[in-house]
Amino acid sequence: MIITLDGPAGAGKSSTARALARRLGWFYMDTGAMYRAVTLVALERTMSLHDAEGLAALAESLAIAFRDGRVFVDDRDVSTEIRTEQITTATRSVADAPPVRDVMKRMQRSIAEGLDVVTEGRDQGSVVFPLAELKVFLTASPEERALRRHREEASRGTASSLDSVLAAQNRRDEGDRVRAVGAMKAADDAVLVETDGLTQDEVVERLVQLIEERRRPRSS
Ligand code: DC
Repeated sequence: MIITLDGPAGAGKSSTARALARRLGWFYMDTGAMYRAVTLVALERTMSLHDAEGLAALAESLAIAFRDGRVFVDDRDVSTEIRTEQITTATRSVADAPPVRDVMKRMQRSIAEGLDVVTEGRDQGSVVFPLAELKVFLTASPEERALRRHREEASRGTASSLDSVLAAQNRRDEGDRVRAVGAMKAADDAVLVETDGLTQDEVVERLVQLIEERRRPRSS
């Protein structure tokens, strides 16, 4: 069974997807980490981030794998390196390249083959797994998302003002909405789950309920 979790940054997607996969004992696929991993190697090889075909060939040549909650590229653990601000910024260009998205789509389908998977990203329900048994679009209000990010930064000692976090987030959201490919949008048949005011456990509980509804044979 495949469950897709898409939505904007700050809606709590990653932590929810991870917690849900753990609860179900399923495989968790963090597709953002895959785009980040390609970007990391591209930067190490000083490739141009505008060379779409070159980046796609690079992506094709890499073995990206998830093991024990860590991300590996050609057997090298890159889980920490892919989380820097530099990689976050550069990944946007890489994820904008249609040939790269095409390679990633195939890679994601191949990783998920034959498994029970919770997959998380921007286009998982709309493009990569159109036949997923359950598609969820996780959202939260812009204010709530900005507040969460602000708190997260504060806990790392790098907080900017709440206003500037919100303004930067609005710019990113707009970029995500208007990008030519991989535009973030809910699949037509996705269930919208709004996480404002809900704890992590409550969100996971709601998703487990939705899964049970899907699994229950329909009475005629
Ligand atoms: O979720 P994240 O911050 O790790 O994602 C990193 C980048 O990759 C971000 O710019 C969005 C992009 N992305 C994407 O375009 N499609 C996906 N399925 C997942 C992530």
